[in-house]
Amino acid sequence: MALTQILTEAIAQPSRYQVPDGCALVIFGASGDLTRRKLLPALYALAHDGLLPDRFAVIGFARREKDHEAFRDEMRGAVEQFSRLHPLNAEVWDRLARSLYYVAASFDDSAGYERLRLLLADVDRQHGTGGNRLYYLATPPAAYAAVVTRLGASGLVSKVWDGPHDTDPAPEAHGCCRIIVEKPFGRDLATALVLNAEIHRVFREQQVYRIDHYLGKETVQNILTFRFGNSIFEPLWNRRYVDHVQLLVAEDLGVEGRGSYYDTAGAMRDMVQNHMLQLLSLVAMEPPATFEPDAVRDEKVKVLRAIRPVPAERANDTTVRAQYISGQLRGKKIAAYADEPEVAAETAMETFVALRLEIDNWRWAGVPFYLRTGKALPKRVTEVTIQYRQPPLLLFQQAAHAGHKNQDIVKPNRLTLRIQPDEGISLRVGLKPPGPRISLVPARLGFSYREAFGVDPEEAYERLLLDCMLGDSTLFIRRDEVEAAWAMVTPVVEAWAADGRTGLAYYPAGNWGPKEADRFIEADGREWVNP
Ligand code: BG6
Repeated sequence: MALTQILTEAIAQPSRYQVPDGCALVIFGASGDLTRRKLLPALYALAHDGLLPDRFAVIGFARREKDHEAFRDEMRGAVEQFSRLHPLNAEVWDRLARSLYYVAASFDDSAGYERLRLLLADVDRQHGTGGNRLYYLATPPAAYAAVVTRLGASGLVSKVWDGPHDTDPAPEAHGCCRIIVEKPFGRDLATALVLNAEIHRVFREQQVYRIDHYLGKETVQNILTFRFGNSIFEPLWNRRYVDHVQLLVAEDLGVEGRGSYYDTAGAMRDMVQNHMLQLLSLVAMEPPATFEPDAVRDEKVKVLRAIRPVPAERANDTTVRAQYISGQLRGKKIAAYADEPEVAAETAMETFVALRLEIDNWRWAGVPFYLRTGKALPKRVTEVTIQYRQPPLLLFQQAAHAGHKNQDIVKPNRLTLRIQPDEGISLRVGLKPPGPRISLVPARLGFSYREAFGVDPEEAYERLLLDCMLGDSTLFIRRDEVEAAWAMVTPVVEAWAADGRTGLAYYPAGNWGPKEADRFIEADGREWVNP
């Protein structure tokens, strides 16, 4: 067997996950899109891979009237439509379906919570779920406080010992009780503080799992493995060697019927406050002492706090915001954002943001981080690019004399972490092409996730649901992280709201953002990396 084959097989071994203890998962908002598109398909995949405990049940809780059977049928349809595993394995599905239940009630109806309590007791008896509870807030955010308060008032939240990191074990402790909270977690710092306070009236921080599905992506976790599991990159991961860092989250779709939500959020709240600042914190953090949840999150929050504040009066110097107008995307006409259903006709909401952040710490002082995200861009791609400094030019003067500018010949090294799709890592280096002259051409050293491991990465929600069942909060956002992220974002979104459409740029759908964004980075002597 060839050495390369042995190596590939060795790395392609799936990691062995632990199967969690039995538990009952209650999904609030079980009639919604998230449950159908993500949660049930993820649970089905876990069941398929033998990662769900035998003692397990799911209770959907939502307003719409239906019985257990109707809920099971609906969820079967959802799994058939959205699962990454095809075709549906009838045996796996039937086993999962037998553990699905439904409670029809509005989120502030105490009687509904009483029915839930009785059903949970019944489920404990029938499925042996041992009083372990996982609550999932998949409702519109306006309902979060009502659900949390009612859970508390109905005696459905026990003060429990929540694993070895829990410093305050309750003597009567049995089982676990956790709550998963979806984004958006507030819409600015003030509302996030209020929401945290409301949750903390009922749950302790160790029980709260704020989800950001980007953290469940394999390639996002790979940022840490790549950085801290290899000795060659980390010494080069700082201001001595790095010229700047770019984070790009480009989407090739418009808002796709989510106008009423998006027109109150915009790209900054929808993508930057959460996914992109999380990516940034993983790229920029110091090595944690261990991979314990709090050790990792301590380092992440230090980065978020070290971001130089962008005061309202400087918001326009360090950001570009724009909205897409109609255009062509892969030969298809895309309507302007302002013409989307449920978007205000005079909307000033940004569908594109570019911003430059500075991280005021020893490692990154003077290295700009450029973040860019937008809807209706030419491609769906998420990438982190570390651009190294220009090498000294002296050696390649000969080529320069031949009439080229040195920058055209000596391209700086670029390390690209491709988060999605075509997950992988590549490094741009300069190499000599064949021939008698010494000159340089850019070449790529690459790693492709699919080629190396022979599989596509699993869905983020699978990993995150499993981790929550296991009580591992490493990939969930802690209270101080969410607050630090809002502290950075809030002055900017407030300044934009005050300016309305003044200062808003426009770009035709299918373009890499507005011209203003190009001028913005060119003013720093740099350029965007457009994959
Ligand atoms: C969500 C945003 O959090 O992330 C959406 O609300 C966005 O607007 C989505 O499209 C992107 O996620 P992914 O995993 O497709 O990159």
